[in-house]
Amino acid sequence: MRLVPWTLWPVGVVGLESLLAWASASNGAIQEWHESLADETAALQDVSSDVCWHAGFTKERCCRGDPTTSPDCWDGSYSFGECCPNADCWIGSFTYEFCCGEKHGLGGNKACWSGGFTHQLCCLANATSNSWADILSSEIETEQFYQMDDFYTDAQYGDEWGYYSKGHVLLGGGKGQDGTEQTQQFAHFTTYPMALSPHFARVFCRLLFIMWVQLDERAPFRVVEMGAGSGQLAYDTQQCVRSNALGLAPALWRRWAAAFEYTIMERSPALRKRQQSRGLRSVAGDAQTTGSCKSVLAALAASPACQGADGDAPECEAQERGTAEAGASVVLSNELLDAFAPVKLRFSLYGKPNITDCRSWQEVRLVHTITEDKLRSLLHILGYSEEMTEGTISQVRGYTDATFCAMANTTIGLEVQQQVSSNTSCLAITFSLSELVNHLDLGVPFASHNMRMRIRKDTKLSDRLRMITERLNGELQTSVALPRDVYRQVRHQLRDWPDLEADFLHTIQTHLFPVSISQERCDDLEWWFKAHEARIAKLALFYRQLGYPALHLVVRPGEDNFIDLVDCLLGPTGGFKLSLDYGANFEGLAHSLSVDGTNDGIFVPPIPHELMEGLPDCHNFWPKCAGRIDWTTFVDFTNLAAAGERRGWRTVFYGPQNLLEQFSRLNLTRNGRLYSVPGYPVLQDAWISRHVKGWYGRESDMDGTGVQRWTSFKALLLEKPSAKEVLSPILFPSWHLDTRHTDPCWSFDPSTVPLADWIPRQGNDSHDALTKLTDEINQDLGRQYAEGYEEAQLAVRLVDFMVAKSGCEAVHPVSAAAILERPVQWEALSVQQCPLMSLSRNR
Ligand SMILES: C[S@@+](CC[C@H](N)C(=O)[O-])C[C@H]1O[C@@H](n2cnc3c(N)ncnc32)[C@H](O)[C@@H]1O
Repeated sequence: MRLVPWTLWPVGVVGLESLLAWASASNGAIQEWHESLADETAALQDVSSDVCWHAGFTKERCCRGDPTTSPDCWDGSYSFGECCPNADCWIGSFTYEFCCGEKHGLGGNKACWSGGFTHQLCCLANATSNSWADILSSEIETEQFYQMDDFYTDAQYGDEWGYYSKGHVLLGGGKGQDGTEQTQQFAHFTTYPMALSPHFARVFCRLLFIMWVQLDERAPFRVVEMGAGSGQLAYDTQQCVRSNALGLAPALWRRWAAAFEYTIMERSPALRKRQQSRGLRSVAGDAQTTGSCKSVLAALAASPACQGADGDAPECEAQERGTAEAGASVVLSNELLDAFAPVKLRFSLYGKPNITDCRSWQEVRLVHTITEDKLRSLLHILGYSEEMTEGTISQVRGYTDATFCAMANTTIGLEVQQQVSSNTSCLAITFSLSELVNHLDLGVPFASHNMRMRIRKDTKLSDRLRMITERLNGELQTSVALPRDVYRQVRHQLRDWPDLEADFLHTIQTHLFPVSISQERCDDLEWWFKAHEARIAKLALFYRQLGYPALHLVVRPGEDNFIDLVDCLLGPTGGFKLSLDYGANFEGLAHSLSVDGTNDGIFVPPIPHELMEGLPDCHNFWPKCAGRIDWTTFVDFTNLAAAGERRGWRTVFYGPQNLLEQFSRLNLTRNGRLYSVPGYPVLQDAWISRHVKGWYGRESDMDGTGVQRWTSFKALLLEKPSAKEVLSPILFPSWHLDTRHTDPCWSFDPSTVPLADWIPRQGNDSHDALTKLTDEINQDLGRQYAEGYEEAQLAVRLVDFMVAKSGCEAVHPVSAAAILERPVQWEALSVQQCPLMSLSRNR
């Protein structure tokens, strides 16, 4: 990272270019994608075309009709099913004559056309073939395959067996020996508000104060914190306001303290109880739905100030949406968004996929299997009679056969059957196909006829398929698949039997299965496809050039719903939304998922031994200990900002969390009034713990889990406009939410996956860049980007500390150059004035 003299940004300057303005101006990537689709040589090859057509044999001649129309085309080496994109059209009563016969005229028989089966494809053989995954599941009901976000929600927050609903989430708390309130710890982990208490909250407290000033001393100034955990941030922030911990002028502080109100919205009943036991106001609600708006507004309107008031003060009247008087002014969250339920999507790069057409995408769902014997003994222990047990088993067996044997008997399933032994179960056949997709080295094709050809003719692929199928067949020979509702029912019955539940978790197997996206989901994601079209186009070009068959992306539908909820709470006079969490920008996350098909974007945080007792290996595969451990995902800050911008909001700041802190004093003038706001650093007492180092962006031994630096803690500040000018309580320069906004002063971009940044910087040919990549270069990149990530933050903090200690003169280019050129001076300055330097010096 090049260290450049930073300019402190004046308040009111827009930190980021608008993502929407950029999106409409950046149709370049979309156009480039479309052009590349038109160019057959750049598009991913139709592998069948490569080998099927020579001499007088052409697709136009041989594929028109059905396998019997041009028998001379098929000599035994190649077949209609391997060569023709329309081969899946002809099944059962759907024959060429029935669908395309002359009597039906130009458009063919309308009764034949639905979804991907069109006149263009079936009659003219002149369209992209259907995907084999669609063919596999097109005739079956996938409703009972668990959607990933439903499973995630049940396991984390479900009333029945959700981890957060059980009340074992927190340890500690209560009064210590000296009678003071003890900091409470989550059972699995700690969070910054707890680890850095009370300093973390004071950084927030200072920002809230500046927001209050910028909102013209709004009264009441209502802060809503969503997902408050132990309530530490709420507790410390209110203490900060009440005790004037910021050191504001007394008259000013009185006005501020009188206007300030704080309310929590919390989903977990156990945590809500804990918050209330600390004297905090906490109302039930789910941050992933606008439905929570009404109850939160009711809680705001019932604030202590309104309790005894008579008459009808407008701030005490709850409405459907926030009003100028009764709405919230700021919505805060720390480590809330990472709990939102994810959905994994797959976008095939084969053929001419349309990014904004939902049918080009698939959604990964989950299927659970268990052996019949295990299910039988479990049901017995749960008190089922013999008759009920056998009835349930026969019902589940019927479901398994109807669903999975139907898939095993599709054109693609039959192809697999040709390659494996005759006693292979339907479950093994179908799951082996979905597992194969993650073997990126095989470049598994998307088109169904291409897949049939590869299974038949590519021994590397068919050997791998056989290997997977044999393993799965051994594991699943006597297994049945549990429909989602039966899985839920079993978990419901196990909820009070922890040992039995652990035994169940040992036994149950979870399989990931890509299927077509439901209409409801398509409707929900329509805006997302459009908002990110240019970014997806750029990724698609990149990965297709590298020969990848698909992009993998994770979307949390709750992010858009959350912004909708905040929009409802903030009311027409606007306000702020500030979220802290770990995560990154859209492209960084998409890269990390696309290079590794087994990465579902779900992370299992470290788990204490006592919680793991009796459980299987919870880290090996994230669904393994569903309901018994915490899960988390990486937040897509670009998506949140885009969701805000589509509602007319402004993106004010995005960057590492420590950029919220300001050590130097801030002088503000608003409506002719001068406000002098003292700075507040977390390093207030020169107390350096590993958490303090973490706050300042230093790589620490905190997690030891191999989490990459570019995903670490960030803040995103959005503003629902309340004034003509953009208001910003944060002075430091934002990081980019889109790689095209990367600061030109950055010689590389440590905020994303190193290779994804490095490859395009090597020139236009990605393949060529990859051939230059050695293990040594790769390792060096990892180190360089991790250090760059830290230094980009430390540089800002150092400037802030220098300004706080010696005034702006200290960072004037001339003075800065004099210091930088003389290591002795630099050392002296750092030792005397800047304890933060020890963080960077001790590297
Ligand atoms: C990891 S904890 C963070 C707690 C706290 N903000 C802190 O930093 O210590 C996540 C918190 O968000 C809450 N939560 C998770 N999903 C939620 C949702 N959809 N709506 C409201 N609260 C939620 C959890 O119950 C928990 O209190």
